[in-house]
Amino acid sequence: MQQQGYPSRGSGSKVIIIGSTSGIGRELATIYAGKGYFVGITGRRNELLLSLQKKFPKNIVTECFDVTQKENIPHLQTLIQKLDGLDILIYNSGYGDISKTLDGEIEKHTTDVNVNGFIEIVCYAFNYFVNQGHGQIACTSSIASVRGNSMAPAYSASKAFESTYMEGLWIKAKKMKKEIAVTDIQPGFVDTGLAKGKRKFWIAPPQKAAMQIYLAIKRKKKRTYVTKRWWIIAKLLKWMPDFLLSKIG
Ligand SMILES: NC(=O)c1ccc[n+]([C@@H]2O[C@H](COP(=O)([O-])OP(=O)(O)OC[C@H]3O[C@@H](n4cnc5c(N)ncnc54)[C@H](OP(=O)(O)O)[C@@H]3O)[C@@H](O)[C@H]2O)c1
Repeated sequence: MQQQGYPSRGSGSKVIIIGSTSGIGRELATIYAGKGYFVGITGRRNELLLSLQKKFPKNIVTECFDVTQKENIPHLQTLIQKLDGLDILIYNSGYGDISKTLDGEIEKHTTDVNVNGFIEIVCYAFNYFVNQGHGQIACTSSIASVRGNSMAPAYSASKAFESTYMEGLWIKAKKMKKEIAVTDIQPGFVDTGLAKGKRKFWIAPPQKAAMQIYLAIKRKKKRTYVTKRWWIIAKLLKWMPDFLLSKIG
């Protein structure tokens, strides 16, 4: 249904990317907008949202908000109104930092962004798509979700939460016989401000990562590793014996 005050747009082409001011999300928004999709972009840094909108004024609408605050659903509803509907929601907002001495502030903020904000927004989107009868949800979790990590315990745990939650939604959609595709995106290292630590390898440019994510969502894959060869690390980590994990994790 067309919403008052906003232009009517065709169906099948409306994407919201939560967390698209920088890094992977910004590249992903650029790809979708470049391909003619209508894209709703979000984040806390309004100047970055507006600078991207300026490049694609006909395809991009913005909504500036912090996912750790209380207004996630009203912001999401406003963005859906601006887009005149929704077909794909991507939860990409993420936070993580080295918590060497187990800093409670870091651990809490990580959980607020990667768990509480995630669950509120994804839950709303899933039910929206149930009512609509179709839709797609994707989330950028991480390879870090596979095992615990001593340097960033809340980050790996919160990414495991996202990944397992997405699998739960994938099963739920199948059981409900709804045309709702659910994609868990697990990047390795991508060259953005979020990639911290000294032992980095196979670092992908954000443009390359975003293109692989775009294609995986288009193919409605259940899970994808970005870049593709990171599936090897995921399997190695999964089956790594504890004595080895305790040395490198
Ligand atoms: N880079 C990597 O190596 C890597 C690896 C695996 C997974 N990932 C995941 O990929 C996703 C994108 O990260 P990135 O690497 O592209 O880093 P990034 O450039 O730092 O992007 C993070 C995005 O999340 C948004 N965000 C952070 N805190 C937020 C908050 N409180 N409210 C709303 N939005 C918030 C940021 O927007 P604002 O700051 O404007 O709010 C930004 O758009 C994250 O979920 C990350 O965990 C990254």
